Amino acid sequence: MDRFLTADDLAKTLRRDVREGLESSPKTLPPKWFYDERGSELFEEITRLEEYYPTRREREILIARAPEIAAVTGARTLLELGAGSGEKTRLLLDALSGTLRTYVPVDVSGDFLVGAADQIAAEHPGLDVRPAVADYEQHLHLLPGGDRRLVAFLGGTIGNMPPADRIGFLSGLRATMEPDDALLIGADLVKDERRLVAAYDDAAGITAAFNRNVLHVINRELDADFDTTAYEHVAFWNAADEWIEMRLRSTRDQSVRVGGLDLEVSFTAGEEMRTEISSKFRRERLAAELEAAGLVLAEFWTDEAADFSLSLARPAA
Ligand code: SAH
Ligand code: AVI
Repeated sequence: MDRFLTADDLAKTLRRDVREGLESSPKTLPPKWFYDERGSELFEEITRLEEYYPTRREREILIARAPEIAAVTGARTLLELGAGSGEKTRLLLDALSGTLRTYVPVDVSGDFLVGAADQIAAEHPGLDVRPAVADYEQHLHLLPGGDRRLVAFLGGTIGNMPPADRIGFLSGLRATMEPDDALLIGADLVKDERRLVAAYDDAAGITAAFNRNVLHVINRELDADFDTTAYEHVAFWNAADEWIEMRLRSTRDQSVRVGGLDLEVSFTAGEEMRTEISSKFRRERLAAELEAAGLVLAEFWTDEAADFSLSLARPAA
């Protein structure tokens, strides 16, 4: 396993993010910190919820298009950013079995990543599986290159980045790509508000637990004393920005001590802290953002219901 992100780096970045986020007004926390082992498991549960359509829809597209993706890319290396369990990736690994030599799943959630990679390696003898614990916002240039590389960024995770950061991220990724490389990117699409909100506020409360998990992570890693039961899960559609926003709402006036930062913060009753945005796309916006980053949209596929999209992009000549 390659570790570009040591436990020390992780701790440093968490400290910086939490201090900045809790000291700003309104308070925010970046979604990266949902994903300790429990957070990764909760996300897997989310993917199986009736209300959470993105995973099912993206799988539907992959089932239909994986052979085409394999034929046009002939990829020898598959680099997957934010790989998680790699459950849908198996469809790509199978379709690419004729050419693929190396699979590099990349994730910040180290233990979960290694477990998932071990399982994939056991199912694909002959495939060189090289998990990398890394932050795709910081370490793209350190990740393995190689000829005919397919970079996959699935699940709609691109939508969790603020729009202003997306072009920088895509440009940084483009800078690491050779002319023969390709990018496969999953993006959720704008749709009926009721379905969007239901997907982020499920009846069983799994997304609420996922949202609150960031407080458990901060309690454990930074010796904080958040009463996690005193924050309500909030999810709503921000129509102007075309994103779902998740927040944690303080149910009472309360103060929290973050021992590891020597920081005391207070929340008023009803105060909301943003923990995630999940942007929903239209084809034109995706194409324009790719173009601004020096990439050309070569294919744009959706599922039958046009709920979710999978795009194949190439470096511009
Ligand atoms: N690709 C999978 C998982 C999506 S969940 C799917 O489509 O189902 C998002 C994943 O991205 C999580 O596993 C999380 O740990 C990882 N992640 C979030 N921010 C990250 C970052 N900055 N660098 C690397 N991985 C990150
Ligand atoms: C990982 N990412 C694409 C998920 C999403 O839909 O934005 C994270 C998530 N947040 C709440 N539910 C799922």
